[in-house]
Amino acid sequence: MITYNAQAQTFTLHTKNTTYQMAVHPTGVVQHIYYGRRLRDCDLRGLVRGADRGFSPNPDEAGRDRAFSLDMTPQEYSTCGVGDFRLPSIAFALPNGSHTADLRYCGHAIRAEKYTLPGLPAFHGEGGTLVVHLEDRAARVGVDLYYGVLEEYDLITRAVRVVNRGSEEIQLCRCASLCLDFLRADMDFITFDGRHLAERSPARAALLPGVRSVGSVRGASSHQHNPFVVLCEQDADEDRGLCYGAMLLYSGNFEAAVERDQYDGSRLVMGIHPYHFCWTLAPGACFDTPEAALVCSSGGLGEMSRQFHRAIRNCLIRDSRANVRKPVLVNNWEATYFDFNKDKLLSIAKEAAALGVELFVLDDGWFGERNDDNSGLGDWRVNTDKLPGGLEALTPELEKLGLSFGIWVEPEMVSEDSELYRAHPDWAFQVPGRKPSRGRNQLVLDFSRQEVRDHVYGQLKEVLSSAPVAYVKWDMNRNLTEVWSAGLPPRRQGEVFHRYVLGVYEILERLRTDYPDILIEGCCGGGGRFDGGMLYYTPQIWCSDNTDAIYRLQIQYGTSFCYPLCSMGAHVSAVPNEQNGRSAPLETRGITAMSGAFGYELDLSKCTPEEKQEIRRQIETYKRRWELLHCGDYYRLTNPFENGPYTAWEQVSQDKREALVSLVAGGAQAAPPFRLLKLKGLDPARDYRVNGGEAYGGDALMYAGYPLPLMQGDYAGLQLYLEAIE
Ligand code: DGJ
Repeated sequence: MITYNAQAQTFTLHTKNTTYQMAVHPTGVVQHIYYGRRLRDCDLRGLVRGADRGFSPNPDEAGRDRAFSLDMTPQEYSTCGVGDFRLPSIAFALPNGSHTADLRYCGHAIRAEKYTLPGLPAFHGEGGTLVVHLEDRAARVGVDLYYGVLEEYDLITRAVRVVNRGSEEIQLCRCASLCLDFLRADMDFITFDGRHLAERSPARAALLPGVRSVGSVRGASSHQHNPFVVLCEQDADEDRGLCYGAMLLYSGNFEAAVERDQYDGSRLVMGIHPYHFCWTLAPGACFDTPEAALVCSSGGLGEMSRQFHRAIRNCLIRDSRANVRKPVLVNNWEATYFDFNKDKLLSIAKEAAALGVELFVLDDGWFGERNDDNSGLGDWRVNTDKLPGGLEALTPELEKLGLSFGIWVEPEMVSEDSELYRAHPDWAFQVPGRKPSRGRNQLVLDFSRQEVRDHVYGQLKEVLSSAPVAYVKWDMNRNLTEVWSAGLPPRRQGEVFHRYVLGVYEILERLRTDYPDILIEGCCGGGGRFDGGMLYYTPQIWCSDNTDAIYRLQIQYGTSFCYPLCSMGAHVSAVPNEQNGRSAPLETRGITAMSGAFGYELDLSKCTPEEKQEIRRQIETYKRRWELLHCGDYYRLTNPFENGPYTAWEQVSQDKREALVSLVAGGAQAAPPFRLLKLKGLDPARDYRVNGGEAYGGDALMYAGYPLPLMQGDYAGLQLYLEAIE
């Protein structure tokens, strides 16, 4: 619900459990007043106070009121160069060379539908929009603040549109999607950081005076930091405390910065990273930022995550199968790498089909002259030496086995050793006069250019039309360097990073429109582009190139703070694991993988009869329990970074009639103590039968705990299925 109090000039956004209020100050500055637990309708302006403070300037409209300073007052969208010395949200260079931005309220609109953003991902669903119009009169620049309110999901979205109303070009050098001021700084900042093969480990620290910022200047949202951050009360944990989660729906360079100011207020600013960002706005032109989304939960980090999961599943992922079981797949990458032919693929496929797998995914190496990772990218036509007769010959054989077919592509890249590069060397990013850097011995295509995208998409279309393709894995195996486009004049090179992302979104949208039934899995060397922007186009994302089930406990745990389990590609792979040499039991590998978008990635024809039996059992369990696994409410029961005796998590059905507890023990122990595992989210008044055997009260399971059996061996796994007794 969005309300406007004309007398007080306040705007109040109510969701089911939260309230957000802002007010137009007599100077015209739009102040941020409150965001937190839901309150009755009231005027909260009294929360914000001012005082005459040294070295905090007063705007002209304040007259002799020295108590009002932009440097202290909380704002909806911070400016620069006119008295607020904290983190700016916007900066532009005017034709006269000035770098000041000063914004005042000039109107608003309330709409019954949630806004959309042209060419950019955005949440959808039932909800309203508030647009607050601001303007910089001297610069003749309009700034519209968009607020989307998805009441049922406790989700508030933000986006910004900047319009040049002047008669000359201006340069937009910074334009955040979100600015959120707090009247407090006694909070922790949680970021999700890592590296290739070890993505999204939570890092939590109290706010100290000054700025802490994470981000990416790699052209992708990155393995190193995720465009999702949390600010929370210092004693907040999984079950208690006020938490604010902020996600940016963007897959390129981003920055999430938080500042604790001199008077113990704080400010979170999130948006496109200002590094090498400079957008020319011609007279009359506008610029739209990516969307940011906020969830505020007073019930701890667990509740915050569950709100994001529901909202992402129902209002961001557009795949018609978002809440439908995805096919169990087998992927040939770790089974064969580049060394395969049709017979080898079919031998894996045959075993897979017999075990209950439904989709065969052909990974890298099926196209061009691609026999290793030094060549072939850009030549998207089937290598008929490896696959005689092309996909037209392979897919009927898979169909006979009852398998649908999926294919890997990496459309944004080009190998220098390819026909595409030989014909169009200028289509790859490189700066004139410099030698380009290589990553995995490949270059990045300039997807800011329409003709480059059209050419690549044309090739993809031919492949996808040559056979029934049910799934596409869209990979990206390096970051961007030497970013310079032959398609833009020198003064507009600061647009290329963002135009690249818009280009990726455009081609993905075309793919979705032309092939609505194809399931697209995003990938960037695993989890290097795991963000809300990609999830809008690709309902699942390969979570990490690290397939070790024990390491995955941490990666999937960190990822789950924002993203739902059904979006995390997770496969059972062979042991010793290819990335770290660890050997986890097959049962444990199955338990970890089936919490995500489930599949296998090993040569099934090499499995023993016992292993095949276990795989068959896993697939049956997944098919029976997928709804609980993917649509149930998710509870983190332990933190795998704390090196406790086990890692456990739980999914509970919406009606609390069923639950599934998954547990993976650490290294083997001699004479281990008996342990009780406290469950969450059950109905305390109901009794639950555990694995078809003994029954326990929901209250007893939550407040006393479930008596865990003693477990033998390293990394043993356990699953408990709970069913309420009617
Ligand atoms: C990186 C991906 O994450 C892997 O799963 C695999 O597809 C390789 N690329 C193929 O080159």
